[in-house]
Amino acid sequence: ERVIVLAGGMSYEREVSLSSGRRVADALKQVGMQVEIREADAGLLPLLMEDPPDLVFPVLHGAEGEDGAIREVLELLGVPYVGARPDACRLAWDKPTAKAVFRQAGLATPESVTLPKAAFHDLGASAVMKAVLDKLGLPLFVKPTRGGSALGASVVREAAELSTALIGCFSYGDVALIERFVTGTEVAVGVIEVDGEPTALPAVEIIPLGESYDYTARYTAGQTEFITPARLSPEATEQVRRTALAAHHALGLRHLSRSDIIVDTDGTPHLLEVNVAPGMTETSSLPLALHASHLTITQILSSL
Ligand code: DAL
Ligand code: MG
Repeated sequence: ERVIVLAGGMSYEREVSLSSGRRVADALKQVGMQVEIREADAGLLPLLMEDPPDLVFPVLHGAEGEDGAIREVLELLGVPYVGARPDACRLAWDKPTAKAVFRQAGLATPESVTLPKAAFHDLGASAVMKAVLDKLGLPLFVKPTRGGSALGASVVREAAELSTALIGCFSYGDVALIERFVTGTEVAVGVIEVDGEPTALPAVEIIPLGESYDYTARYTAGQTEFITPARLSPEATEQVRRTALAAHHALGLRHLSRSDIIVDTDGTPHLLEVNVAPGMTETSSLPLALHASHLTITQILSSL
């Protein structure tokens, strides 16, 4: 079989995608597939039209890989691909939209406010920030509504830190998602469809050794401790499993996803977001979860 792995792209997560793409390509080569890694650039369409592969595996992170556009084109050309369809990507990629879907499905997600940069300009930044603090209190978590790998994201513990957090956020996107920060255990729960049946992988507990699970903590070996399965009570373990499966279903995802969840001190899971193109790097949690469930990345990727 001939597979094209799409990786790279022009997003802020380009390097992460190249690293994920190499890992996926190696796994597929191990089962004898003929694999080519390439960019989603102007050369892609002529190639797909003239010499269509058996399958495309998009491993693009950031807008190019997660907003549904590339997959819409693959649909248009009738080329089979791994992962969620465009409509589901659009829902998952925009975090406030995804949160609305989670709430409708009865899944807890941190209380939040979504504000574009323009609102701060037009209405006066200090007045808007005061209104946000009055509603949500402290601590807060600020991030761009569309993005990944914690770029532009930060915790706000004191009111005076909010403006710096917003400036960081708006350097990566035009709309801020300001959430109430939930204290607890951060876990990532992968969902993989085996023979069309979604299965939740063991939760991976994430313990950044520095201040937070930021970009550096994500992609520098040794900066984050991962514990699989996460140290949760049997009830919380079951709840995060159900949450990840329910989120996968509510967003209408396909083949694979990764839900990022905080389990609060009462054991209640709060869903942060679901990723349609989860990182597959050496320090990403999904490959760790596969390993812990005695599935190799090769077995899973080739069956997908
Ligand atoms: N956005 C990165 C790749 C992740 O979710 O793993
Ligand atoms: Mg993400």
